[in-house]
Amino acid sequence: MNFHRVKQLHGELTIPGDKSISHRSVMFGSIAKGITEIQGFLPGADCISTINCFRKMGITIEQDHSSVIVHGNGLHGLTKPDSILDCGNSGTTTRLISGILSAQNFSVTLTGDSSIQKRPMARIIDPLCQMGADITSINHNQCAPLHINGTHLHGIHYCSNVASAQVKSAILLAGLYADSPTSVTEPYVSRNHTELMLKQFGAELSCYDTTAAIQPATELYGQSITVPGDISSAAFFLAAGLLVPNSELLIRNVGINPTRDGILRVCKEMGGHITLLNTTNMGEPAADIFVSSSSLKGITIEGSIIPTLIDELPIIALMACFAQGTTTIKDAAELKVKESNRIAVMVKNLTAMGADVKETEDGMIIHGGKPLHGAIIDTKFDHRIAMTFAIAGMLADGETTLQNPECVTISYPEFYNDLKRCIQQ
Ligand code: S3P
Repeated sequence: MNFHRVKQLHGELTIPGDKSISHRSVMFGSIAKGITEIQGFLPGADCISTINCFRKMGITIEQDHSSVIVHGNGLHGLTKPDSILDCGNSGTTTRLISGILSAQNFSVTLTGDSSIQKRPMARIIDPLCQMGADITSINHNQCAPLHINGTHLHGIHYCSNVASAQVKSAILLAGLYADSPTSVTEPYVSRNHTELMLKQFGAELSCYDTTAAIQPATELYGQSITVPGDISSAAFFLAAGLLVPNSELLIRNVGINPTRDGILRVCKEMGGHITLLNTTNMGEPAADIFVSSSSLKGITIEGSIIPTLIDELPIIALMACFAQGTTTIKDAAELKVKESNRIAVMVKNLTAMGADVKETEDGMIIHGGKPLHGAIIDTKFDHRIAMTFAIAGMLADGETTLQNPECVTISYPEFYNDLKRCIQQ
């Protein structure tokens, strides 16, 4: 798929549902009693993997694009699947479901695609085993495929050395089934969708500083969930609106949970014109975002803001290429263990387009202001890399070619169509 420089972007768009919240709505609905109705569900490949896993464990789930109805069977209502659970490309499915499966009265094997089979699972295996779980990495490499023999769990206090919502959520979900309270402390607060939504489903949960604590539950109850648009998907349009000259975009109904809104803070600090309108809160805060072309300046991004924009760092690195001065990204070693090694892949592809960017131990240093030129981009089948370089191609001289562009179906199946509409409007 080829991209060329565009003159301007205009119009309005509604971003598809938040991936993290969509996963959780299906998972929690499946282990709750009664019906969970979900509006704004993301019908991306990752969330479909979650639906398929729970269907295999006996849950009836009706899905019509972004409307989903989950017929939950209660906390102890899952049944043993008759084959391996396939988590596809989804780290969230693999890690969160492991917390639930650790406490069932059956055993199961779960795996995913070649990317999932390389991603670190020790981070969930270790704490879950401390709770009494019986989990084996079948290839003895602390990665999927995992064999989980459901068993009786007890509560723990776990001090995690990574700020990871997937780790925190796996432990909290196991904690629902434990015989005593469970808590997780992280170095920085990661996204808190699990905490907000589990409370809505009736779990007893408290949060203080960087700790989340959960009481064992007897039952969760089906809910109506409205999923806001995914700020991680909106980020590509925010960047495009800021960087393409003479542009104005209105991005509707974007989730702005403070544990996810680092991209907005970064855009503003870089000098971007961004205005929030029509703020709402249907369980998760959301707003329309108006963005217009801006001159940007380089900044340093580090510390507690990192987990709030972890998935946006590829597109932030692209923004930094067009900012005056130097942008330094630190404390982001987690990027190396995402769907691809996003530090190495960003540095390689940005360099191929003529950017001045250096890889560091835990991030990147980008000297902005060098014009980009087209290149052939290896997306590594990573959806966020593909979307980042589609935007890069609209800002560069000459032609930019994306290899394996279809990987955007993981989180944003209509991405290229939505982008095309903003060029034509
Ligand atoms: C997610 C948490 C983050 C994020 C991922 C989705 C979630 O991962 O990068 O895309 O839904 O909990 P980590 O928990 O590994 O930081």
